[in-house]
Amino acid sequence: MSRQRIAIIGAGPSGIAALRAFESAQRAGAKIPEIVTYEKQDDWGGQWNYDWRSGTDRYGEPVHSSMYRNLWSNGPKEALEFAEYTFDQHFGRPISSYPPREVLWDYIDGRVRRSKVKNKVQFSTAVRWVDYDRDQDTFTVTVENLRSGKTTSSEFDRVIVASGHFSFPNVPDFEGIETFPGSVRHAHDFRGAEALDGKRVLLIGASYSAEDIGVQAHKMGAASVTMSYRTSPMGYDWPDGIEELPLLDRFEGQTVHFSNGETREFDAVILCTGYLHKYPFLPAELALQSPNNIYPAGLYRGVVWQKNPRLYYLGAQDQWFTFNMFDAQAWYVRDLILGRAALPAAEQRAAHMRTWRNRFQELDGDADDVRFQGDYIRDLIEATDYPMFDIDEVVQIFLDWKEDKVKNILTYRDKNHRSVMTGTMATTHHTPWLEELDDSLERYLSTPAAAAAPTDSDQATETVVISEEISVNGVDGHARVNVR
Ligand SMILES: Cc1cc2nc3c(=O)[nH]c(=O)nc-3n(C[C@H](O)[C@H](O)[C@H](O)COP(=O)(O)OP(=O)(O)OC[C@H]3O[C@@H](n4cnc5c(N)ncnc54)[C@H](O)[C@@H]3O)c2cc1C
Ligand SMILES: NC(=O)c1ccc[n+]([C@@H]2O[C@H](COP(=O)([O-])OP(=O)(O)OC[C@H]3O[C@@H](n4cnc5c(N)ncnc54)[C@H](OP(=O)(O)O)[C@@H]3O)[C@@H](O)[C@H]2O)c1
Repeated sequence: MSRQRIAIIGAGPSGIAALRAFESAQRAGAKIPEIVTYEKQDDWGGQWNYDWRSGTDRYGEPVHSSMYRNLWSNGPKEALEFAEYTFDQHFGRPISSYPPREVLWDYIDGRVRRSKVKNKVQFSTAVRWVDYDRDQDTFTVTVENLRSGKTTSSEFDRVIVASGHFSFPNVPDFEGIETFPGSVRHAHDFRGAEALDGKRVLLIGASYSAEDIGVQAHKMGAASVTMSYRTSPMGYDWPDGIEELPLLDRFEGQTVHFSNGETREFDAVILCTGYLHKYPFLPAELALQSPNNIYPAGLYRGVVWQKNPRLYYLGAQDQWFTFNMFDAQAWYVRDLILGRAALPAAEQRAAHMRTWRNRFQELDGDADDVRFQGDYIRDLIEATDYPMFDIDEVVQIFLDWKEDKVKNILTYRDKNHRSVMTGTMATTHHTPWLEELDDSLERYLSTPAAAAAPTDSDQATETVVISEEISVNGVDGHARVNVR
């Protein structure tokens, strides 16, 4: 029998997890299929591969990443840690719980940097179309090399879709918005809050983008931040200068009318209205259609396309857990492909999906959601040789994180959590998040003079006191001090 051929679409954290899963089996002596990964960007890392551009990239393709300068992890790193490649292994010392984007990119990259899996990725190559041939039971994947403009088609036995689902912005219409004279853009195109200094900012939406861009704008000196919610407010104890109002009714030039009758004037509007599941390279019968939720319909065990079980999706869920969930999914899909895990018949798969979907529909609130996603991951890991970890403890980390945010939305990133993989307690970053204006890897890993342990022990005590004072002063105000 000839060797199976597998196509992976996308080399973000999910696509890399798939590559790593096969590599791990190969190292243990298994014969693995021939794998080709197509990645439209010039490097891997997906969302974590920052692009300063917005709109289109250097090849005229839609920019993939929605991340921005100054983006720091919004969840504790202890909740996303790979079970088979820890932060301790990568950094060689404890780091803080909420690293900036570049540090997490380095961690993702570090796991596979010294392996040969990068050779299996064709970069700057966009997948244009996937056709399934029922008679042959194969897929034809047509791609464009964005550097040469050359289009080619290849046959595969299985396809893994790992193209992400936070890239195609959901852009609803609002009455009169075309009369707004200031800047209007979607969070996908937001690249940094510096330009919002002194501005009155309206954010439409009440989820992570609105929350994080809102506090970024506040941090960078916005005159005011108003967040407009459709269903319910986030309800944090916002500092002066940030407020939540119900959904707006209409724009009249710079003036916005809200449904509770209030009006405000704004200088800038950012739509934090989420993203669409969109797979422009897939025919309708293979394309997932779902709102952003933690149990999208049509996927057995969250990964196998029920209507064609030779097609898989990774990372298609809304995400509490991220990197270790992608690993669990990738290991399971690998084992199905290698024949180590048996794929049940269609009716059994449907019954399994119904059970989980029913539970999903009964979920009531964030704590339920996190537990559900934890159980989902446990179910996958139990079917593979991915190292099991204390998922209940990670659930607890998420719950503590939620509580920290309720206590103080501006300082939760200064809290430390303990790794469930290694037991290592995170260290406090040298500069409180609210005052840290430099998100580079170099700055993050450095020991700035004010935080360094001086040789004179009296002076050391004094230095610590100074940095505590800075932290307290920073809580209620805009960042004014950058401790270097
Ligand atoms: C603004 C923002 C902030 C986030 N912050 C956090 C955070 O702090 N912590 C956290 O854990 N998670 C965060 N996430 C969640 C993030 O989605 C995951 O961490 C992770 O990046 C998902 O990995 P993925 O590989 O599934 O998708 P992606 O990271 O989106 O990667 C998909 C890859 O597929 C490629 N691709 C897409 N279409 C094609 C095509 N047609 N042909 C070839 N290649 C293609 C893309 O170029 C990309 O490299 C954030 C997401 C967003 C949008
Ligand atoms: N620093 C960080 O790490 C960071 C920062 C930003 C984002 N992220 C990540 O990015 C991902 C996406 O987050 P997201 O906040 O962009 O999307 P999201 O979680 O899907 O939320 C979308 C929001 O838009 C609202 N919305 C949708 N259509 C609307 C309409 N027509 N009118 C008004 N409101 C509308 C929704 O309101 P309803 O509740 O009414 O549906 C919801 O509040 C998440 O995984 C998040 O963790 C991370």
